[in-house]
Parts: sequence; C-alpha cells; structure tokens
Amino acid sequence: MSTPAVANVSELPFLDGRPKKLLIGGEWVEAAAGRTFPSINPSTGQVIAEVAEGGTEEADRAVAAARQAFEGPWAAMKPMERQSVIWRLADLIEASYAELHLLEAVDMGMPAGRSPGAGAAAAAEVLRYFAGWATKIHGQTLPNSQPWSVFTYTLREPVGVVASIIPWNSPVNNVLWKVAPVLASGCTMVLKPAEEASLVALRIGELLSEAGVPDGVVNIVTGYGETVGARLVEHPDVDKVAFTGSTLTGQSVVRAAAGNLKKVTLELGGKSPDVVFADAELRRAVPGASMGVFGNSGQACCAGTRVFVERPIYEQFAEAVTAYAAKLKVGNSLDPETRIGPLVSEAQLERVTGYLDIGREEGARVLVGGQRVQDGELAGGYFVTPTVLADVGDDMRVAREEIFGPVGCLLPFDSIEEVAARSNATSYGLAGGIWTRDVGKAHRLAHAMRAGTVWVNTYNVFDPVVPFGGYKMSGWGHEMGPEALGEYLYTKAVWIRTD
Ligand code: NAI
Ligand code: MG
Repeated sequence: MSTPAVANVSELPFLDGRPKKLLIGGEWVEAAAGRTFPSINPSTGQVIAEVAEGGTEEADRAVAAARQAFEGPWAAMKPMERQSVIWRLADLIEASYAELHLLEAVDMGMPAGRSPGAGAAAAAEVLRYFAGWATKIHGQTLPNSQPWSVFTYTLREPVGVVASIIPWNSPVNNVLWKVAPVLASGCTMVLKPAEEASLVALRIGELLSEAGVPDGVVNIVTGYGETVGARLVEHPDVDKVAFTGSTLTGQSVVRAAAGNLKKVTLELGGKSPDVVFADAELRRAVPGASMGVFGNSGQACCAGTRVFVERPIYEQFAEAVTAYAAKLKVGNSLDPETRIGPLVSEAQLERVTGYLDIGREEGARVLVGGQRVQDGELAGGYFVTPTVLADVGDDMRVAREEIFGPVGCLLPFDSIEEVAARSNATSYGLAGGIWTRDVGKAHRLAHAMRAGTVWVNTYNVFDPVVPFGGYKMSGWGHEMGPEALGEYLYTKAVWIRTD
C-alpha cells in the first residue's frame, strides 16, 4: 500500500499559507511582535510555512497555563474520563494519519510511500496502550511492623507540569510518545517541537481539543532550543523535563534542571552495534542490517551504524550490503518510490558530508555512496546517498561518533567474546542487533551488550508495551511500557494511626 503522492504541497489543507500559531491555554496565539521562522521542505529547500517563534515570555505563559490546568479541570477529571479522552485522540490520530504522515514527509523528509497503514495503527496503539493505564494507576496497602496500630498505604500522583522537548527525526512518534504518558498520568505539559519540524505537533494540537483534552493540558510553544527550550528546562515551576535529542544538549538540560532539581528523563544518541554472525540467515540480515543504518536516512537514535561482521562472511556480506544500498532509491519524500529521503536541513547535510570527509581522511574506504545528490529535481534538497564504509578502525571518529545520516561502518570480528567487548567500547548504550541462527549465541551476546534494547534477527521494532531507554550516555529512564508511566508519577506514603 502506498500513499498517493501530493504533487503540490499546497494541497495539504493545513498548509494554507497562514502563519502557524502557538497553543497556550487552549488559545492559538501569535508570538510577541508577530515573530515567525520558516519551516523548510528538505526535499526542495523551499519554505512551506511560517511558524510562530515563541520566546521566554511565551514559555512562561505556557507554563502558567499548564499549572492552572494541572490544578483545575484536569485534576477534577476522573480516570475513566481521561481514558476516554485519550482513546478519542487515538481515533482522531488514526483517521488523520495520512495527513500527518504527509506533513512529516514535507516538513522533515520522511518518505511518504512507506506502509502508512502500519504507521496509523502504530501511532494509535501508543495512545490506546496509555489510555488503558489511566484507570490502573494505584498505590498499595502495606503491612507495616510498627508497635502501634498504624495503617499505611501509598498513592501514585502525577508529578505536575512537564516540559517535553523533542527532536525532528520522527515527528508523529516524537509527539505521541511524550503526549500519551502525560495524559495517562494526569500531568500537564508544554511541548517544544524541534525548530526543523514543528508542523505535525501543531496539527496534533488541533486534534487535542477535538478529542476533549481540556484547555491548558497540552500547550505547544514552537521556537528555538536556545530560547524557548532553555527557558523551559530552567523554569522554576516546571516539575519534570522529558527530553529527546542529542547527548550534548541532554547534558545542558541536566545542568539547567539543577536549579529546582526537577525530574529529568533523557532519550539521547547512540552508535549502536549490529552483529552479523557467519551462521546468520543473510536473506534477512542483509536488508535488516542495511535498513538499520539507512532507514529514515540514518536519522534514527538507534541506528545500527557499527555493523560487525564475522570474518568468514565479511567480503560476501560487504558485497551484498553494497548492492542493496546501491539499489535504494534516493528521492523526494513525496515520490512513492522513494526509499531514502533527504536529510532534515542544510546544517544536517553539512554535518553528514563533513563526517564523510573525516572518514576518508581517517582511511576508511567508501564501498558505495558517500556523496551529496544534486541531480535535476533533487538539486535544491539535502540528499546524501546511502554509504557503506569499509577498512574502519574502532578508534576512528566515524566509528565512535553519532553521524545521524545514511552512513554505516563495516567492522570484521573473529569471536563472540571479542565482538561483545568491541560492541560495548562506546560511551553510548541505546540499542544493539544480533543476526544468528544459534539461539545460545544470541542469548549470550544479548546479555553481554550494555544497551537498553537488543534486537535479534530483526531491527528497529517498537511496541508500546516494551520499554525503550538507554544505558550509559544514551539516556535516563524509559519511554513505553509501565516504566514510562512511572517516570511521570510520584509515590506518596500515607501513615494513619488508628488506635
Ligand atoms: P538537539 O538535541 O540540539 O535538539 C533537540 C531538541 O532540543 C530541539 O527541540 C531543540 O530545539 C532543543 N534544544 C536545543 N538546545 C536546547 C537547550 N539548550 N535547552 C533546551 N532545549 C534545547 O539536536 P539537533 O541540533 O537537532 O541535532 C544535532 C545532532 O544531535 C544530530 O546530528 C544527531 O547526531 C543528534 N540528535 C539525536 C537525536 C536522537 O534521537 N538520538 C535526535 C536529534 C538529534
Ligand atoms: Mg522542515
């Protein structure tokens, strides 16, 4: 199934040419002095919308609105009603998914032609999973051993106002993964989308009130990280920051949060290993490992960019991956045939091509790709061909640093002990992949990997019941699963003397 391509971006009703506004306390408002910034289609380099540029003042107003909603109508809403509201939002997202997916295609370049049906179901499931939790948040009665009669029990309460700061690489998921646990837990939020891709968040903002989410529960302030983002993370009336983005910015979030010691969860970068044993089923391992690198043009936190290949099949695997990469169609995100869209921005293009130069200087050999594409219709966009690097040493920068582009390194290995150690020789720990037909080897390496997610004979699969989070410098805490809900709750102990 494929989405019919929209020939003209202006056919999307949401892109009506009017500047997009901020959502504060249920009202769509302009930024002070009518300031806006452009949203760019990275397939063409053209401006598709102007978006309100919020600043410190708007961040403060949004926090105040979130606080008011937290103490007001939202707190009064019964769990069963909250559950219904989230379920209605899920229905609306599912019905609007084709439009949302086209918006992310033109706003950040994700190919539109890839199984939108599956995408709609996945997006709705995140909300429906958390909707179920809204009525199942409860404490415990605890049999204490005090000498007097004391009744003890716990309550689980929402932490309060959350600042959710998200990147641009998967707008629908980035938004829903943050909104769903906030609504289920009874928190309120200020959402700050990435400046490179604000449109999906704003369209979802319209659906929120349609679903019956009370005003002020979700506020959306678009703008730059250094201004709106920085204000939100240091704000004394914000109780928690949920941040997804680069490890460097994550570190600045932690420093800024110290003022009022707000709770912080972080979903950060990675340089994930993907290990292919000689006994792997190559029919699956070749496309699986390839798309683990090239999917979303490599703009994925858990991209498996260090591909370790057992020496006996190294040459054969390198050839197969090279052939696979060469066949992937690079193109405009709206072309239904496109498998590899553009990078999100010119800055990201420069970053990725910069790493390609670094790799060549370090002595890596380019098996395929390695170039910017500027032919014909793609001239104005930010395209890089899927790239495979061989002769890569573990210490090279291209093997250690997150590139966030369609660039994978091939590294030969000789034993499971060796590859376990080399997999873990990184400051990151987000994910890892293993391809083998040997169940024992799969378990041994899965246990040895210091990473929050390990995929065996598959890659990049997500489900709302499965917790997702990083070890080491890849993050703090989890998204998805009951773990994620817990990140938005306090546990209160109540003691009542009864004699
Ligand atoms: P970034 O981490 O700076 O941006 C992510 C979000 O944080 C955006 O909404 C941004 O406006 C906001 N932000 C920026 N500075 C902030 C601050 N001081 N306080 C609060 N919020 C702030 O990432 P960026 O610049 O978009 O990408 C640079 C590199 O980061 C990429 O090349 C990639 O390597 C990595 N990255 C990793 C992601 C992941 O999911 N692992 C996602 C995005 C970027
Ligand atoms: Mg854009």
